[in-house]
Amino acid sequence: MSGIEKDHNGAVSLSDPFVIDDLLIFDNDTLRALINDKSFALTPILFGKAMHDADARLAQRIASVLTDSERDIFSESLAASIPEQDVIASRRQILSALFWELTYWKTPELYEELTEGENIHPGIFENIHPYIKDKIILDAGAGSGRASIECLRHDPKRIYAIERSKGLLHILKEKIDREGLTQWILPKHGEFTDLPLEKNSVDTVIACSSFTSKPEQGGKRGLKEFKRVTRPNGMIIIIWPNENDLQWFLKEGFTYEALPVNKEMSIRFKTLGSAIRMVKRFYKKNIFAMKYVLRSGKPEVPFSVLGVKPPHDYCWLQV
Ligand SMILES: C[S@@+](CC[C@H](N)C(=O)[O-])C[C@H]1O[C@@H](n2cnc3c(N)ncnc32)[C@H](O)[C@@H]1O
Repeated sequence: MSGIEKDHNGAVSLSDPFVIDDLLIFDNDTLRALINDKSFALTPILFGKAMHDADARLAQRIASVLTDSERDIFSESLAASIPEQDVIASRRQILSALFWELTYWKTPELYEELTEGENIHPGIFENIHPYIKDKIILDAGAGSGRASIECLRHDPKRIYAIERSKGLLHILKEKIDREGLTQWILPKHGEFTDLPLEKNSVDTVIACSSFTSKPEQGGKRGLKEFKRVTRPNGMIIIIWPNENDLQWFLKEGFTYEALPVNKEMSIRFKTLGSAIRMVKRFYKKNIFAMKYVLRSGKPEVPFSVLGVKPPHDYCWLQV
């Protein structure tokens, strides 16, 4: 599995495009959160091995976010002499686990290019229209603003777009300025577990392909924080939930809705060149996807070809 990981909805990607010093892009809070995320299984020993001959500033940053006992293990591992293959293998494991976070932080423009054509089933926004019209919305984990922009078609009062990746937030801010949306969308830096919003300050929370059951991507603490900022009887709506999280959401009291897919849903890239670039980078292991694009000669790729659940479902909870 080295160098390969599953994305938020199951696609297989390669970590090769990044190098270990790229971890410097994360701020300390995010670096700490990623290291503590049990699902990534990134141990202080592994980081110690990976830091051999890496940028000294990175080793210092990592040491600074570890606990005292973790720092001792990390320093010991860093000081030990190990074969070069071990260093390479440790780096691969880390870069593979953090592929999507590195994409959000280091190459947000590529994430934007990937998701620009990844349209959410329009029936979802039609269904949730009553919870958007004239309402104050929080778009949590807004990324480059896919859900925020979609919400605008449904006449919200205001949208707080909160995102922790500064790169994606920057793209969103540029978009808001360029399209004259400053009065509607208010971008803010923040974490699911520590939202920069007052208690009961929004009517509806929307999280599109962002909030999961994992503690570092929300989890129980994140849900509690969503409830804190939502007014009584407001709604929390999780669009395109991770398939593995459905039971978790049901247990937390959510209702699951899946819209029928009458016509196969596809990602529509801007150009054939973009489709080739994106499939090569984000679906490299899926040889069928590349063959499909080259054979069809079109910038449209069905989700089924990519091996990804189409964005046709959501979970909702009334607070
Ligand atoms: C797959 S992207 C989706 C972005 C956007 N909602 C969309 O539909 O394109 C997941 C987003 O969630 C953000 N995210 C993940 N965990 C987060 C957390 N704990 N706090 C805030 N944002 C988080 C990531 O930075 C990333 O922008």
